[in-house]
Parts: sequence; C-alpha cells; structure tokens
Amino acid sequence: MCGIIGYTGDRDCVGIILRGLERLEYRGYDSAGLAVLEDGRVDIRKAQGRLSNLAELVKASPVRGNIGIGHTRWATHGEPSYINAHPHADANQRLAIVHNGVIENSYTLRQGLAQKGIAFISETDTEVVAQLLGYYHTGEMLTTLYRVLPMLEGSFALAILDRERPDTIYCARKGGPLIVGRGAGGSLIASDIPAILSYSRDIFFLGEAEIGAVTPEGVSFYDSLGNPLEKTSVHIDWDIDAAEKDGYPHFMLKEIHQQPKVLEETLRHYVDMEKLAVRRERMPFTPAEAKALRRLTLIGCGTAYYAGLMGQSLIRRLARLRADCEIASEFRYSEPLIEADEAFIAISQSGETLDTVAALRLAKAAGRPVIALCNVIGSTVAREADQLMYTLAGPEIAVASTKAYSAQALTLMILALDLAHLRGHMTTAELKTALRALGEIPGQAERLLGQKERIQYFASRHFNCKKIFFIGRLEDYYLAMEAALKQKEISYIHSEAYSAGELKHGPLALIEEGALVIALATQSRVLDKTMSNLLEAKARGGKVVAVGQSPTPELLAAAEVWELPAADERFAPLLGAIPMQLFAYYMALQLGRDIDKPRNLAKSVTVE
Ligand code: F6R
Repeated sequence: MCGIIGYTGDRDCVGIILRGLERLEYRGYDSAGLAVLEDGRVDIRKAQGRLSNLAELVKASPVRGNIGIGHTRWATHGEPSYINAHPHADANQRLAIVHNGVIENSYTLRQGLAQKGIAFISETDTEVVAQLLGYYHTGEMLTTLYRVLPMLEGSFALAILDRERPDTIYCARKGGPLIVGRGAGGSLIASDIPAILSYSRDIFFLGEAEIGAVTPEGVSFYDSLGNPLEKTSVHIDWDIDAAEKDGYPHFMLKEIHQQPKVLEETLRHYVDMEKLAVRRERMPFTPAEAKALRRLTLIGCGTAYYAGLMGQSLIRRLARLRADCEIASEFRYSEPLIEADEAFIAISQSGETLDTVAALRLAKAAGRPVIALCNVIGSTVAREADQLMYTLAGPEIAVASTKAYSAQALTLMILALDLAHLRGHMTTAELKTALRALGEIPGQAERLLGQKERIQYFASRHFNCKKIFFIGRLEDYYLAMEAALKQKEISYIHSEAYSAGELKHGPLALIEEGALVIALATQSRVLDKTMSNLLEAKARGGKVVAVGQSPTPELLAAAEVWELPAADERFAPLLGAIPMQLFAYYMALQLGRDIDKPRNLAKSVTVE
C-alpha cells in the first residue's frame, strides 16, 4: 500500500527520495509528498496524483537538504487530495511524519486533541499522530514516542523528522514493515527493499513494536520499553535490474515471461534434479513429523489463497492428508478449531499482508507450528514463522501476481510429493517419475509463452465483452479462480469462476450472446464432464474457449482451443496459469488499463 522512504547523510536527499518513491510506485498510491529539514525548519511538498506531479512541483519550487522523508499515499482516512497527502506536521511545525497503516482509534484521539484546542488541517489518522507527538513532546523524541505510541491502536510504520534533531530520522512500527540500510554517504529507511536497494544491500528489519533512531553514522534500535537492541543485517542479493522493465512494456509482461526461470530456480532449490530427490534439509517436515501429521491448514489472501487451494488439493490427493486452505481474513475471526496435531502454512508473496500475519499469530498463539511460504526475505511472515520455505520468484513489481503464484503453487506441489512419499502413499520410484515430470514444466512453460500471439489476437477481438466465466473442476476450478481474479484485477471486466458442475445450479442463467466462457481442462478424469458443461454454455450463446492438453477433433471443431504442452496432469495447472495471465494482460492492454498499477489496488495489503 503506501510507501515510505527516508535519507539522512551528506548528499542532497531530494533526488534520493524521489527515486526511492519511484521504486515504490508499484505498491499503489494516489498522492505523494516529501519533507526536508533545511535551515532549522521543516519544508513540505505534496501533490495529488502521479509522482511526476510531485517531481514537477519540486522543480518549480525547489527544496534541498541532507535529511528528508517521502511518502506515496493510498487513501484510507479521507479522500485522495493534496491536503490529505503525507507528510503531516504538528501544530508548531516542529515535526513532519509519514505513516503507513491505519490508526483505528484516530477518531477518539482526534476528539481528545480538539478539546485541548488543537485544530486539524486534514482528515487523516496520520495528522492525529503528528499532533499527538507535538502535543505530548517531552523535548526529546524517543521519550515522546514511548509516551505516544501506546495510545495508538491499529497498525503503523512511522518515519518522523524533528527540527530540533536535524540529523535524525525516527522510525517506529507495529504491523507495517520498515527497513533500514546504510549507503549513499548516510543511512536510509524504507517500507520496502526496492526503494533503497541501489544504495544498500545489507538491510536491518525493524521488528514489531521497535523504534529506530537513524543518523548519517548509523542506526540505534530500541524495544518498546526503551532498552537498546542489537541487530544483525540481512544481505539481499536480488538483482537491481529485477526492478527494471528490461524492455517489456509492463512489469506484468516481464514477470509472466520470467516464469520458466522462476519455476526452474524454485524447483532446483527444493529438488536435486540429478538425483531426483527432494532436498530433505529444505523441507519443513522430518519423516517422523510427516507421518504423525493429521491436519495441515494453509492460509493466504487473494492469489496466495488460490495457490493454497491448489496445494490443498494435491496434498489431499497425493499425501492422503487432511489439508484445508482458508482465507486469512475469514480464518482470523472465525474462532477456528485448532487441533493439537495440526500444522499451518502461511502463504504470502510480500510477507506483510496484515490478515495473513494475524492468522499466523493466531496459530502460533495456539502453540501450533507455522511454516511460511514467502517471497520476501526478512518480511514479517518470514520472520515470525517457525520455518521458512522461500519462493524464488525475485521481486514482483506488478500489482497482479504472476510469477509469485507459480512459485507458490510449485513449492506446494513439491511439498505434496514429499509428504506423499514420507507418508507411504508414493514409492521412491514413483516420486522420481513425478519429479522428472515436474522438471519438464519450466521448458514447457517457455514453449507455451512462444504461442502468446494467439491469445493476443483473441483478446483483440473480444476485449469488449461484458462478462467472462472461468469454469473447471478440481484443480482446474482453483485455477479458474485465479484466472478470474487476474482478469478482473487488471482488465476490470466482470469475471467469475465456477466449478463447472455448478453452472447448471444457477449461473447458466447469466450466459447469453456476448459472454465469454473459458473452460480450464487439465484434469483428464473430469475432462468429458467439463467439456459437456462448456458446450451447454455454447448452446446458450456463449463464446467458448477450452484450455487443456491433447484436444480431441470434436473439441477443436466446437471451441477455440488454447493447447497446453503434454505435461503430467498433476502439474499441468502450472502451465494452465500462463495463458490465463496472458489473456488478462492482453485484454487489459486492449482496454488501455494501467496494467502494473490497477485502480484501487495495492501490491502489499498492510491494512484490513
Ligand atoms: C492478486 C494479488 C493479490 C495478492 C494478495 C496477497 O494478483 O496479487 O490478491 O495475492 O493481496 O498478497 P501476499 O501474497 O503478498 O500476501
């Protein structure tokens, strides 16, 4: 969601802040701003809309200084506007702050301050924090923070400038992520790694309820009681170019094309492909634990949830283990029945999704082991889980997740195979055959990408359609859910996923001339059934497409077919995802949508 960057050092901070904010654009925002400490005063510039508006403003009304903070805002309290954009100052203009997250009791706090005579300029919860810090200022920022932070309910990542301490950025977090790095002749803070990666690769992660005081010389960390903390940095070896488009018109298209490599790297991380054996040391369960396991609950949101459903299905089918995937935001409030022999997998690309973090904490509070399936090193989910399975997708910049989904689904497939083997439902020879087949997937994905023109052409003829139904059974149903999400997210065309068998129970009434119906059909045991559902939709005027392997001549005659390479069908949904991503991409392209930054959406959802 919102993005934070800050710099204190011997260089002018404005360029560093603007470049950092550019790197955070992918998170989604509607206004931007920065504050600089210059000659003992706080100088603020803010602009509604794109970052280029802020850059223009800074050109027209220059500001310079060696210490500053910047922010991209995604409106929560108050409409997107110049007034509500961050940074916000206190009544005495002593402080400037930027904030990610939501202060849930801001209304009450605002009323309390108003009764004390404080006048507010904006509608934001952030200004409430600025005014609280100003009102309760002890003359020293750390003690002020210890006084004010306990008043705040909700989530926050805060960066604060104090004109009386012109070399220090103070930062604090509860919920939202904040990182600190050294580089560019000073120190940097940010809400996300890409913002500072070109200056710093050794990153400190601010922990929950911790405070940092960042100066050009270094950073001091404190716990919530004011005790100093020792921290070690984490080295980030992501390729900086990974945050560039590499000649692709959009990050999303680049990331779709990175999938063969991502699949290959994730696969080789977990599997020794020469020996055709799972790398035991990288798997979360020992043989004894795998045998003893009675229940596995997977948790995620959005695309991560759909990858979890795919995992649930294969774990049930292959490992004969009770596996259930839950939506994190539902799970956390559902008073879940957590059992003694249950383990959890929290799935999250960013590792910062608030609901997923909350669900993870619930499981841990119940004393259950949690495994993180995560793409961002050092993120909250990665740090708080008991064990980690990294997905090796590299930084995913487009809001619509593609390569992270594939890496999550693949990792869960490897886990399903490992559990099946350890629990005695798959022989070693069968496991080797399956792993060999899995090894074919990256190459098959590459070949599939070579056929993208067909989908592009189809999109050029059908982008005006009003609704799209994605249907499938079993794993294909879960794939259909992901396809529909991708489509609505970036093309804004109303898209729904249905279990093909459910069409007759209601949704068929919606099929009429002009509707598109796409059948995902990678699972041979239900192929005939899905195809007859597709033809029922065709008979009602729908334009029908089938996505699957080895289509029959009858199917080719009846429907538009996007053929998948002949893969082991346990893993074929990984291939089926690619035409669905391309389809969403090309529909959105035809419609002139803002593909990498779709409206109303953010890359990392750190509020409820
Ligand atoms: C869709 C998408 C979102 C995320 C969801 C969870 O393309 O990207 O649905 O999957 O917000 O995010 P993470 O995986 O970061 O927890």
